[in-house]
Amino acid sequence: MIDLQRYLPAAQKAQAVISQVLDSRPGTSSDYVQGWVLRGTPQQDVIFYAVLDASRIPQPEPFARATHQISSALGGQQRVYWSNSTGFRFAVVLTPAKRLPRQIELPTNLPTGRAMIGLRPDGQVAGGKWGDLKHIIVVGYTGSGKSLTTRSLVYQAIRQDFNLILADLDGTTFPMLAEHPALLAPLANTTDEFIEVLRIALGELEHRSSLYKQAANYPEKIEEYNQWAAANGQEPLKRVLIAIDEFNSAVTKTGGPDGKLGKMAVELASRGRKFGISLLMSAQDFSKEVIGAVRDEVGVIIAHKVNSENVARNVGVAAAAQISERTPGRAITNRWGLIQAFYLDKSHLMNGASASILTPKEKELAERAQAETGGKISREVLMGWGLGQGEARRLLHDWELRGWSEKDPMRANATYITPKLVSLLTNLPTLPTPTNWLPTPPTGLPTLQTPTNPYEEGE
Ligand SMILES: Nc1ncnc2c1ncn2[C@@H]1O[C@H](COP(=O)(O)OP(=O)(O)O)[C@@H](O)[C@H]1O
Ligand SMILES: [Mg+2]
Repeated sequence: MIDLQRYLPAAQKAQAVISQVLDSRPGTSSDYVQGWVLRGTPQQDVIFYAVLDASRIPQPEPFARATHQISSALGGQQRVYWSNSTGFRFAVVLTPAKRLPRQIELPTNLPTGRAMIGLRPDGQVAGGKWGDLKHIIVVGYTGSGKSLTTRSLVYQAIRQDFNLILADLDGTTFPMLAEHPALLAPLANTTDEFIEVLRIALGELEHRSSLYKQAANYPEKIEEYNQWAAANGQEPLKRVLIAIDEFNSAVTKTGGPDGKLGKMAVELASRGRKFGISLLMSAQDFSKEVIGAVRDEVGVIIAHKVNSENVARNVGVAAAAQISERTPGRAITNRWGLIQAFYLDKSHLMNGASASILTPKEKELAERAQAETGGKISREVLMGWGLGQGEARRLLHDWELRGWSEKDPMRANATYITPKLVSLLTNLPTLPTPTNWLPTPPTGLPTLQTPTNPYEEGE
């Protein structure tokens, strides 16, 4: 339980400061304060409210404008908010600001069907079902964590057996995925190639559209189609993630939103969701025109540190310009406010020595080998478990390359899965229980506005 008594002196000081500031400014007066309230939140924060008499206030704006002065007069130590959603009030958070850790690893036990973006200060995960997130925008200047966030989402898509389309002008974001089997089209590195891969994506969309027409249940989303497919002996469809880095430059270079690339992206954005096709668009900035063209279809905006207020305003997350340069990965989102995006080392995306990409299918096969054949795998064994001949051959080849299987001279040179693969199966650490390793922040205040500056990391 919170000991409110302990916060009385701080509350009294806030009361005096608020009164003084309101009495000293034009258009405001402490006479309009109807009540002073000291309250604890379920998140263990203590908040002091000055509740104004809405029926008597001539104009709320002068009060709103006093927020900053109140905060300064309190020494800038406490966060002061102005709320105009349910009546008018000031709120002063008396408990100290909670800080997000600088680095939070992407949990390895990923929930299926969902994308996890990062953690909020109260330890809650920012994320959701892919379908609900709609399309995603990641913005941030160089060094802000844009590539890591983008890769983390691509990685999650791979782990969930998506198909991928990847486009990257610099060739620095996804080079390690150039040969990935989940790719529906070759990795695109030029604007011409961008156009080419989006053409392939649109082809896939049309293909899915014709499949949906055969389904008797008039699917409106991929889950509905797949339900019908499962009941009717049809192949299920995989979700598709189209990740386009340097989206803004690529669209601008090819004639803007009305150019070839822009038009295709807009069409994919507006029609793709129904067919399980999601866009992930990253850039250092977004022009008003470019963002305007896709905005209605975008469900999530992840704004890392950006260069200018202008960029921040264009994406609708004005405070993103205030994020500290010293906290890459920190972001402000339209859905969850401030977060620390999950950290994912790029080695997780590489084939070879440090690979840890294990699709659900691979996991199932490896577990089956452990349980049923003492770890032995062969083309015959895999085909016995339902793989096609080509599929089985490819898998044996891939696993050997990654060091996940090898021939054992002691056992008639047959192929066995390696301890490395076994350790991938067993070393899936669990998500730390949120909230008990981080103090909780003032999330009981969803309606409060204008934090003075909660985005700057203190020392
Ligand atoms: N989510 C994160 N958590 C912690 N550190 C991060 C995070 N994202 C990025 N960083 C750090 O910042 C550096 C630059 O990140 P990167 O994603 O390459 O930036 P950008 O693509 O915006 O130029 C990384 O090498 C890493 O050290
Ligand atoms: Mg980058």
